[in-house]
Amino acid sequence: MPLALDCIRPCLRGRRIAGERGLAIGWRRRALARVTKVSLVLVLLVVAAVAAWVLAMRATPATVIQPIAFNHQKHLGVGLSCDACHQHYAQQTIAGLPNTEVCMACHAAPLSESLEEEKVRAYAERGHEIPWITIHALPDHSFFSHRRHVALGKLDCAVCHGDMTQRTAPVTAPAVKLTMAWCVGCHTQRNVTTDCSACHK
Ligand code: HEC
Ligand code: HEC
Ligand code: HEC
Ligand code: HEC
Ligand code: HEC
Repeated sequence: MPLALDCIRPCLRGRRIAGERGLAIGWRRRALARVTKVSLVLVLLVVAAVAAWVLAMRATPATVIQPIAFNHQKHLGVGLSCDACHQHYAQQTIAGLPNTEVCMACHAAPLSESLEEEKVRAYAERGHEIPWITIHALPDHSFFSHRRHVALGKLDCAVCHGDMTQRTAPVTAPAVKLTMAWCVGCHTQRNVTTDCSACHK
């Protein structure tokens, strides 16, 4: 584009500036492309980290913290049997977790210096049940009965739950993975039904 005479200096300057801008824009584009690449890599890393975390959480569920650090060993050591606290297994499908009243039969007055023991009375004074978290839980589609296995099948608790007399801390995971293969394995071994409808209602 020919330049008008009265425009030579400012217009050349204008062109030079435009040229520099062009360079600057080219540089910015490249920088932007680099930044985009870097952030794409970052996003991928974050996605990978989140995916790894989710998988890890599924593989090892967060450790359950029970409201009171209950000690099976100490209680079984003073001669209690399982049904003092798990009162339903002989008649029902569930074994049941103890309510506060069961604990208060012995803990209305202190038996130890333990602060954990103090918590039992604190729940009782507020009229609250101790909010135990149930660890063993089958999906709703499958059926299991303690009465059937313990009262009729005469199986010892330890066959499925391990030796609780040695347990000094609350249960955080089942002793045995509650898979269908585990159920069916024992049924096959003991000539018990493996009919789908026995366990799936
Ligand atoms: C038959 C009586 C009896 C019952 C029922 C009972 N306890 Fe105990 N508990 C004891 C005795 C005895 C001790 C003291 C044991 C020791 O220090 O050697 C104790 C100790 C404790 C302690 C302190 C443990 C420690 O590590 O020092 C806690 C906490 C506790 N019991 C919680 C409970 C809870 C929760 C329940 C109800 C689910 C319960 N107890 C039911 C008799 C009982
Ligand atoms: C044949 C294996 C087996 C035997 C034997 C067995 N259990 Fe269980 N237990 C299970 C299974 C499976 C679950 C999960 C049940 C569910 O989610 O329906 C469970 C759950 C539990 C629970 C938590 C849920 C509930 O039912 O309250 C307690 C407590 C329990 N068992 C205690 C006992 C005691 C005490 C004995 C012995 C008297 C016993 N179990 C014998 C397999 C067994
Ligand atoms: C004095 C009460 C007491 C006695 C006796 C007792 N338990 Fe427990 N049990 C508890 C409490 C409280 C919990 C929940 C906290 C924990 O895991 O320690 C529990 C939890 C369990 C669980 C895990 C339940 C779940 O959430 O899935 C099993 C299995 C179990 N007990 C088996 C037994 C067996 C088997 C015996 C007898 C050998 C027994 N217990 C005796 C109080 C008792
Ligand atoms: C260690 C061995 C063992 C394991 C593990 C076991 N069972 Fe059993 N099961 C038995 C025995 C023995 C009987 C028969 C009890 C009787 O005499 O009535 C039985 C009976 C049953 C019955 C009644 C069957 C009928 O004839 O109607 C059902 C339902 C059942 N089991 C479900 C399960 C489920 C669900 C699991 C896994 C969560 C499981 N069982 C794990 C040993 C086992
Ligand atoms: C002795 C009991 C028992 C018998 C018999 C049984 N199942 Fe199961 N099944 C279970 C239990 C318990 C689970 C849950 C296991 C778990 O959560 O890992 C299950 C889970 C399943 C699932 C879901 C699998 C999943 O990944 O969630 C299917 C589908 C299934 N069973 C089908 C069948 C069929 C079909 C049959 C007959 C050929 C059968 N089952 C017989 C106990 C049984």
